[in-house]
Amino acid sequence: MCGELRDTDAGSQVTVSGWIATYRDQGKGLIFLDLRDRTGITQVVFDLEDVAEDLVTQAKSLRREFVVSITGMVREREGKANHKLATGAIEVRADELEVLSRSDNPPILPDEHEAEKISEDIRLKYRYIDLRRKRMQDILTTRHRITQLTRSFFGENGFIEVETPLLIKPTPEGARDFIVPSRVKPGSWYVLPQSPQIFKQILMIGGLDRYMQICKCLRDEDPRADRQAEFTQIDLEMSFVDRDDVMNMTSSFVRLLFKELRGIEVGLIPTMSYADAMSRFGSDRPDLRFDLELHDATNLASKTEFRVFTEAIGLTDGVVKALVVPNGVDKLTRKNLDGYGEIAKTYGAGGLPTSKYTGQGEHGGFETGIAKFLAPIAGELSKELSLNEGDIVIFTADRSNIANTALGQVRLQIGRDLDLIDESQFKLLWVVDFPMFERDEETGHWTSLHHPFTAPMPDQVGVLDSDPGACISAGYDLVINGSEAAGGSIRIHDQDIQTKVFSLLGLTPEDASTKFGFLLEALKYGAPPHGGIAFGLDRLTMLFCDTDNIRDVIAFPKTGSGLDLMSDAPGPVDHDQLEELQIALLEPEANSANC
Ligand code: AMO
Repeated sequence: MCGELRDTDAGSQVTVSGWIATYRDQGKGLIFLDLRDRTGITQVVFDLEDVAEDLVTQAKSLRREFVVSITGMVREREGKANHKLATGAIEVRADELEVLSRSDNPPILPDEHEAEKISEDIRLKYRYIDLRRKRMQDILTTRHRITQLTRSFFGENGFIEVETPLLIKPTPEGARDFIVPSRVKPGSWYVLPQSPQIFKQILMIGGLDRYMQICKCLRDEDPRADRQAEFTQIDLEMSFVDRDDVMNMTSSFVRLLFKELRGIEVGLIPTMSYADAMSRFGSDRPDLRFDLELHDATNLASKTEFRVFTEAIGLTDGVVKALVVPNGVDKLTRKNLDGYGEIAKTYGAGGLPTSKYTGQGEHGGFETGIAKFLAPIAGELSKELSLNEGDIVIFTADRSNIANTALGQVRLQIGRDLDLIDESQFKLLWVVDFPMFERDEETGHWTSLHHPFTAPMPDQVGVLDSDPGACISAGYDLVINGSEAAGGSIRIHDQDIQTKVFSLLGLTPEDASTKFGFLLEALKYGAPPHGGIAFGLDRLTMLFCDTDNIRDVIAFPKTGSGLDLMSDAPGPVDHDQLEELQIALLEPEANSANC
């Protein structure tokens, strides 16, 4: 292979094959090539004065990205060794050349420096060239190592890999489904799985005890930096377990990944309740790589006459939250603060009352913004928030969900703006004790925070009847650096509880039976207690490859608008195919008339 030869190989006759990465005709009877394959680069020299005429002609016709096979003698480089290359001490003096494939003038080059300058869309269109880049090959190799470690770890721990179907009935993860028409049953549709959730539960009812699968999941949602419509999960399920059992098994797996891939000892992974995460960090997946925490200023704020505060406190669940930016006066610009106001609005908060603390002046040490309203509580507030001269205090006032989330997002932006996030760190966290349900603001119905098969904690079953909104679930998420790396739960294995949860979610018995009847049926015939979890494999790979672009870690990803630029999918299908499936397309006019 091109990356393997060393000075100890000098004198041997070798054949190396690969792509021509660089081609230099030095004009002094010497042509140099860098030959590239997955393992690295070897320098090849054609000594034109010393080889047959036809080899000279052939060598002169070579260009970048031609695929060639070269046979020759390994020798130590005549000039200086290139210490940047593993093969930098040697070169191969070509005696024979076979052109295996020519290349047109390549539209892009698989070169790290070039890649930065080329738009991602072009690189995706010519993915086969971009994949020749070392960085891309390193990423796919890391992904491969993760899947290898996954299979060996779970295999050693008694898990059995089972494939679940792709053409199924809808699954319950809450996104839009991709649907597939049935030819044999016209007018009927399969959906593609958003996850193997129901099947893995049925495998437990089927006595498999421990299941794992590395599987594709398909959710028709808009792609984002860490989200694709087609992504991969490392999916697990275990029988006769409680929450700690699944979390412990998962933690051991994560520790192995960090040890093997990064040489990092992760140790015990801390646990935080959902309520704490929301209240202190304004997110159920807090980024703990920096400190800034939200403070509850509701009590003090109620002593002011600031209507934004007092009206918010009057709401059900109304709170006032405060975030202190140490020395913000020097660090944050007006533009920063305006930007935070916009972020807060996106997350439903009306505004972002702000003030700076100088420790002096007529408003008890506060200046600008809402200083005059803070004056009556200035002493207590500065003590409670441990304010120092030059700090900026940013508030949100609303129902707790909105106030926390909006300020949590502002916290993240401040972290980025002020460079507070130590990118070299990994901060892992289990978030637990989620509520079973949250209210859908529009319909007023309960919706599941995880999915409808998530069990309440054992001591919470009664709360399902008395106060469903307060019921705590046996769900858990593993958060790494502010990203949800994995999520799971202990499942309901009792038919009556499952029926009750469906009914709280507003599913009539008929709905429940149409959608999930086969699971309800299966629960009648001996279901063991069980639970599981699923990792986003793409997100794990992103972490270990230091990228925040999910497309980097998928060999053939879709763009932000869901397109495969290389194969040009999605595209039209033949009229005959549609006819066979008995599908008629709406005319564009009819389409808009329907709207
Ligand atoms: P959940 O929906 O939380 O749980 O998904 C599990 C993990 O999959 C990853 N993930 C995604 N990655 C990339 N693109 C997406 N669109 C995407 N959606 C999710 C995340 C997430 O933590 N059946 C349950 C698991 C269970 O309960 O066992 C499920 O699918 O990293």
